[in-house]
Amino acid sequence: MGQDSALTTAFAPPADSVLWRKDFLLGVATAAYQIEGATGEDGRLPSIWDTFSAIPGKVLHGDTGAVACDHYHRWQQDVDLIHGLNMEAYRLSIAWPRVMDAAGNPNPKGIAFYRELLQSLRAKGLKTFVTLYHWDLPQHLEDKGGWVNRDTAYRFAEYADLMSRELAGLVDAWSTLNEPWCSAMHGYGTGHHAPGKADNKLALQAMHHLLLGHGLAMQVLRRNDPASLKGIVANIGRGTTDGGTAADRRAAELFEIQQNNWVLDPLLKQSYPQGLFELWPGTEPVVEEGDMAVIAAPMDYLGINYYFRTNVRSDGAHGYTEIPLDGVERTQMGWEVFPDGLRDLLIGFRGEYANLPPIYITENGTASDDAVQDGAVNDAQRMSFLNRHLAAVDQAVKAGVDVRGYFIWSLMDNFEWAFGYERRFGIVHVDYATQKRTPKRSAELVRDFLAKRRNRQD
Ligand code: FCB
Repeated sequence: MGQDSALTTAFAPPADSVLWRKDFLLGVATAAYQIEGATGEDGRLPSIWDTFSAIPGKVLHGDTGAVACDHYHRWQQDVDLIHGLNMEAYRLSIAWPRVMDAAGNPNPKGIAFYRELLQSLRAKGLKTFVTLYHWDLPQHLEDKGGWVNRDTAYRFAEYADLMSRELAGLVDAWSTLNEPWCSAMHGYGTGHHAPGKADNKLALQAMHHLLLGHGLAMQVLRRNDPASLKGIVANIGRGTTDGGTAADRRAAELFEIQQNNWVLDPLLKQSYPQGLFELWPGTEPVVEEGDMAVIAAPMDYLGINYYFRTNVRSDGAHGYTEIPLDGVERTQMGWEVFPDGLRDLLIGFRGEYANLPPIYITENGTASDDAVQDGAVNDAQRMSFLNRHLAAVDQAVKAGVDVRGYFIWSLMDNFEWAFGYERRFGIVHVDYATQKRTPKRSAELVRDFLAKRRNRQD
């Protein structure tokens, strides 16, 4: 640690920072499976994460989302919490298995939950960013092949249709998918996430169907809720190499191609990058005529999630091996803290994609081993992390990138997928034994900044 100790105890952006602009949206993000709990209530069907987390060894300490932050029962308190932190926007996700039965019929109780939640957020003046798919595929669809089955893309469009008819007017911005890279790669390539398949060829096919589902959903969202913004959320990562050879440099390029261009090229250039098949020969997905045009439907915004940089070297063949750098700052996840990566990737995309839509940073944040002491949580490392990443966003804006807002991941500590409850990403601490929420120091600092910004005359 210790980069700039002044940054760790304050949140005071310089006077010329984009953060002072009242139209630069600041908010917090969560996702359904990570906070809701109540997995068996009111007709909710099992999702792939219920199945996966029940398998011993898949999630740290055997944790599951069965209770999580009990947000399904405590949502009113949580809305007050978000509002009390002076946030301007809240990014949440809808659990597909809560709102539709296996025959595709609506589940009124599940839909009512989201309607009331969104109405309550709106009544408090918060902007609502709603993700349709944050990884909780209904298990009955996985039983038919999940995202490897082309039919799932059409089922997803039906779900998007139902939601946008039911909730039109309550959503400021829809996102179809959260991080299709993780759904495809960790779900079907590495097997680290549900449904736990490990074959890159499956991952490429799953990605194609995820993106097809996105494109089909964009069409129905436009029709049903024309006034809202519509887009997708992609995770991006910086690649680098400490190796000195041309093969090492190519390895770092290939790392970024699979991490970033695999998702962004189909969306913004109507094609998959060739480097992908250099890296993983023989994995070309089945693509039907017209698919790429559906996938590349114009978007109102692009959501970007950024967390870290990865160092690689050539594996001696056509791929790369990850080699963790020594002596760098890391988070509780083990991820390198590298704010410049966010700035440089944003500037790079602006040069690479002529049709790059306006950007919202839909996730950025850090995990730390936080504990409540004397009623408070001093998460200095998080404040430092947020300060430096917000400075990187400001630099990207000054370099001409159209970034319109930033969401902290996350509102509160929650179920961090394969890492369960041990990794704490919240700006609000959650005591899982009592469900008590305690705003951490970072939350208080952001809250005070937002009050100051709101009251400023300009
Ligand atoms: C992202 C996910 C989000 C959260 C953060 C830490 O990949 O979208 O749900 O787990 O990582």
